[in-house]
Amino acid sequence: MDTVTTNAAVRERVRRWRAGGARIAFVPTMGNLHSGHISLIEAARRGAARFVASIFVNPMQFGPNEDFAHYPRTASQDAEMLAAAGCDLMFMPDAQEIYPDGLERATRVEVPELSRILCGQFRPGHFEGVTTVVAKLFNIVAPDIAVFGEKDFQQLTIIRRMVADMCYPIEIVAAPTVREADGLAMSSRNQYLTAAERRIAPRLYGALQGAVRRLAALDRDFAAIERAGRLEPEAAGMQSEYFAIRAARTLGAPQDSAQELVVLAAARLGKARLIDNLKVP
Ligand code: PAF
Repeated sequence: MDTVTTNAAVRERVRRWRAGGARIAFVPTMGNLHSGHISLIEAARRGAARFVASIFVNPMQFGPNEDFAHYPRTASQDAEMLAAAGCDLMFMPDAQEIYPDGLERATRVEVPELSRILCGQFRPGHFEGVTTVVAKLFNIVAPDIAVFGEKDFQQLTIIRRMVADMCYPIEIVAAPTVREADGLAMSSRNQYLTAAERRIAPRLYGALQGAVRRLAALDRDFAAIERAGRLEPEAAGMQSEYFAIRAARTLGAPQDSAQELVVLAAARLGKARLIDNLKVP
């Protein structure tokens, strides 16, 4: 695996591969890789001959009081994991490479509406930062496929929308959420949890499972299910941000019984903000 830090070096490498007829897969990450990322990488490797991963802690997607400065940065460990997973190229740009004129004056890409609901209500500007950096990375890497985790279901939905609206010739592949043995969705931010909080954290998944059981049994009292879903993490000591039943394709309020549903939740626990979701089978 080679490591490069400039846009030009990525483009040069990808140009050569493409000239040789290879399909290119891409997984954008912020590093601090765990088994959840490895499942993204495995999905990427199945779809293409060459695989590029980026590691960039994107300042534009962090709010002023969020954890940008403390976000875990583990470059050499990440490089080992990527090499072991069969990555061909690791792209580790610095902020100057991605935002040469700084953040303030940078062109931004935004998917309206979808970016302002659910997590967007609690993290204003977050998804605009995500779509801006992902659009830039897509323009630099120009992959055939790109893989995103279902754990960040809203992010995945927004990226799909951006790709459709901006006519990117990129197939977006969704990789299922990877969970710890007790059900907690894997996330780099789980390491902010104390031992006591870590024992409580799976209760968010428990609440989602409870809601999905009711919906699968054709209970359609959405308001009551959402209320119960918020109460369960609260009772465990979390601060619930939202617990919402939505149409899986649009993230809008469910309109008819034929729509696939997803239940999404976010809650704060100590220094961590947990998000998770489950589709209704
Ligand atoms: O999901 C993430 O790790 C980030 O939001 C992403 C997609 C790498 C953009 O910075």
